[in-house]
Amino acid sequence: MPITAWNALYNTHIEEIDEQHRELVAVINALDALVTAGHDVAGLHDVLIELVGYAHRHLRFEEALMERVAFPELPRHRAIHAVFIEKVNALDIALRQGEHRQGQELLVFLHDWFLRHIRITDQEYVAHIAARHASGR
Ligand SMILES: [Fe+2]
Ligand SMILES: [Fe+2]
Repeated sequence: MPITAWNALYNTHIEEIDEQHRELVAVINALDALVTAGHDVAGLHDVLIELVGYAHRHLRFEEALMERVAFPELPRHRAIHAVFIEKVNALDIALRQGEHRQGQELLVFLHDWFLRHIRITDQEYVAHIAARHASGR
């Protein structure tokens, strides 16, 4: 899978969020490079743990932020995040079971899904925060 360079469209201009998104994309890219090179689970273990940890931390951070700014679409956004976590867990299981092909398919899915999520779905709370600021709340 070609590694995607960071694109200005991915920016939320919220420093912590952009940092976390970049980290997550970097970990997904690193994992993909290892899976493509045919590393065994032992070699993937650390990166896999990193991905699971980052994913949980980021999504929790984002949900707390949306709560703080009373984002009305939070329940829907939360449900979408749950699907991401499900896929990360499925990837974890597939790679642990030595299912490299399935692991690679899941990685491609995660990569595309995540970039699309930050380009479209995350921008919804960014717009909400901007509107709040504009109205002085
Ligand atoms: Fe995000
Ligand atoms: Fe999100």
